Amino acid sequence: MTIQTPPVAVKQQSQPSPIHKPAASTGPTVTPENEVDFSLVPSPSFVLDEARLHANLQLLAHVQEQSGATIIMALKAFATWSAFPIVQKYLPGATASSLNEALLVHNEMPGAQLHVYAPAYSPDEFAGILPLASHITFNSFSQWQQYRKQVQSAPQRVSCGIRVNPEHGEVDVGAYNACVPGSRLGVTQSQFKPDQLEGIEGLHFHALCESGSEQLERTLAAFEARFGAWIPQMKWVNFGGGHLITRADYDVQKLIDLVRGFRARWGVEVILEPGEAIGWRTGWLVSTVLDIGDNQMKFALLDVSVSAHMPDCLEMPYRPMVLGSGQPGEKAFTYRLGGNTCLAGDVAGEYSFDRPLKVGDRLIFDDMIHYTMVKTTFFNGVKHPSIAHRALDGSVRVVRTFGYQDFKGRLG
Ligand SMILES: Cc1ncc(COP(=O)(O)O)c(C=O)c1O
Repeated sequence: MTIQTPPVAVKQQSQPSPIHKPAASTGPTVTPENEVDFSLVPSPSFVLDEARLHANLQLLAHVQEQSGATIIMALKAFATWSAFPIVQKYLPGATASSLNEALLVHNEMPGAQLHVYAPAYSPDEFAGILPLASHITFNSFSQWQQYRKQVQSAPQRVSCGIRVNPEHGEVDVGAYNACVPGSRLGVTQSQFKPDQLEGIEGLHFHALCESGSEQLERTLAAFEARFGAWIPQMKWVNFGGGHLITRADYDVQKLIDLVRGFRARWGVEVILEPGEAIGWRTGWLVSTVLDIGDNQMKFALLDVSVSAHMPDCLEMPYRPMVLGSGQPGEKAFTYRLGGNTCLAGDVAGEYSFDRPLKVGDRLIFDDMIHYTMVKTTFFNGVKHPSIAHRALDGSVRVVRTFGYQDFKGRLG
């Protein structure tokens, strides 16, 4: 049995949410989950649905076109490079957080703008990043001073920026709030050094996470109140990521208006660097039931690990959705779903189903493309999910499988 009927899920707990319709309805048809043939892919595997990715990117392209913003993709959320050719049809570049991510953009997105930001650069990493980057943002004036001369001697022109902290928190979960008191991310107003701005062309703030445009509006007001005095001498302002533009209830027109208004007020280029919005609800993690047990309640052991393959669910934490499932007790048969590592807490949560589960059943975790593949580990050496694409015609191709050498290669 394959459990694959709706309701569909959103990452933030389990409120059903339709897919955001792209502005132009000319795009590829998105197949409902209950019509996707998950038996075509091996288990376990991450399955990226190209139609859903196109739909998200079309919406972002619409925002770019209407607002005049430059939208680049944050690799930290989505770095599935087999899909970069699709991303490049819509977005002019990407932002990297390290030399490795910068190399991936350089090698797999030929000709793309390459923005880089890291909380701190080590000298050897910086030497590798510098010849690749179009834009580099520094987290402090001390780092800017350390690398300023080196930037001037780069083989190409590099546009430099400073990350600032608008000291305005809109994100409830502390770990995801860059403006949490005492944050190490970005220069606060009191630490800002206007006398060291020579050579700086941009200001960057990143303060949002899974946020709407109302949260951006308030953050923007805080940013302008604190740093407005220096915007006129800039070429660009980067509004960071955390804009969940592709979520169905996101107020896209408000974002467009905010960007237009900002550009009109200040005459600078606006850059947005979302990550999650690109991979949002673009695919699944396919798993298989390996065993069923009972200890105070029924549990099912799966061939995936929450800890190793969906670590955000434990970190954030949130309960991932399983297609066709309900809340515990909502349907006739309730199980605790657990992963195949030794960690007692390697558990996705409790789910109910219309029929009893049995060994060999496939369970499909929804919305498993962003902040998953970029964060997986080989904890316990558990079998690593393959990566597959579901093409526009419904055919499936496995782009990567993992084995012993991949496990061994991470150790030494
Ligand atoms: C500096 C910066 N830019 C962009 C992003 C991407 O954010 P999101 O994936 O939430 O859009 C992050 C995420 O932490 C970030 O720290």
